[in-house]
Amino acid sequence: MPRMQAADFDAVSVARPELAASYLGLLASQPGRPLALFAPRRIGKTWFLDQDLAPAAVQRGWLPVYADLWLQRGAPLAAINHALEEALDDASVPKGRLGKAAQTRVSKLSAFGASLDLAEAPARRKLPEAPELRFDTLVQRLHGAVGQPLLLMLDEAQALADGANAEALAGSLRAVLHKRRAQVYAVLTGSSPDALAALLASTGAPMYHFAQVLNFPPLGDEFLLALQAQFARVHRGKKPPLEGLRALFERLGHKPALLRDVVKRMSAEGLTEAELGFQRYLADEQHVAGWRALIDTLQPLERGIASAVALGRPPLGQETRELLGRIKGVGQAPTVGKVRAALERLKKLGLLTRSGSPQVEDPFLAAWLAGREPG
Ligand SMILES: Nc1ncnc2c1ncn2[C@@H]1O[C@H](COP(=O)(O)OP(=O)(O)O)[C@@H](O)[C@H]1O
Ligand SMILES: [Mg+2]
Repeated sequence: MPRMQAADFDAVSVARPELAASYLGLLASQPGRPLALFAPRRIGKTWFLDQDLAPAAVQRGWLPVYADLWLQRGAPLAAINHALEEALDDASVPKGRLGKAAQTRVSKLSAFGASLDLAEAPARRKLPEAPELRFDTLVQRLHGAVGQPLLLMLDEAQALADGANAEALAGSLRAVLHKRRAQVYAVLTGSSPDALAALLASTGAPMYHFAQVLNFPPLGDEFLLALQAQFARVHRGKKPPLEGLRALFERLGHKPALLRDVVKRMSAEGLTEAELGFQRYLADEQHVAGWRALIDTLQPLERGIASAVALGRPPLGQETRELLGRIKGVGQAPTVGKVRAALERLKKLGLLTRSGSPQVEDPFLAAWLAGREPG
């Protein structure tokens, strides 16, 4: 029974058709200019592309093509091309089960030497090997095959800035999107505008010339209301007050899956006070064990810095460094350079946020760290 309840909370979701429609409208009004949507991690960007934007595109008569550029770090164009090739494959196979079955029968027949329409279709020239040309050709061919505008969704686009030839790559992406603007629209998402902005600026023009940069808005009260409703279904009308949920959602950086986890737990324990639910969540032995294991992999100085950041102390400040010096295993107040290097490592590990002044990425870990002895 509790398991079933948990699953119902997992199914709580919010559709955002108006937001999707507004993005598509923007794209249509400025061909060749992608949208770049930025929001911190786990706010719901990927979910939105998949659940809202892609269906809205289909409705509009566009073909959505999704590529996660993070998956092939260092080779983002390969990831894009791969996604386009898959879409091209799909487009060349007759749609639906019937089509597939027919095709299988046809190829079996061909084993007996029957003459086939398929075999008579003119063979396509091979795709160019060079990724930039391949990208251009794929856009053209896919568009030709489906006869619809493409919507290229490039998730985690800051990966464009990662590779060795990042500048050249961004340049050709930009050139192709411009040249093929009648055939393809593009949406980029990212969790850190900094890297991407720097990269695109280095290709000759600031990012806002290349893409329209927008902050992707987090979910609002509609998500809280949906959670409330689910809670009320389980608890015969009893539900957590909206104010408390709102405050907690804010504290959790508007990350829906995190709030859902706490509310699930509140439901299991019959608690309606969000703050109390959060405290229980933080005290959960399993969670604590996980955070401790994570922190134990760090060096003493890094651990101390993570705690300082969680407490909202400026990590490079004189006072903070003196405090850090008192941590066992650190020895003496570390230099600014040393703290900088440690911050960099913590960002690389994903423990601290990359853009702006550093924060602990995971709000639970942040709260747990803030509530214990530093170091
Ligand atoms: N509209 C939504 N309704 C319900 N849950 C959502 C919604 N958007 C995101 N989530 C939850 O948040 C999680 C993280 O979202 P995700 O799209 O992966 O974030 P991002 O791509 O910004 O890092 C999802 O796995 C899902 O559980
Ligand atoms: Mg994502």
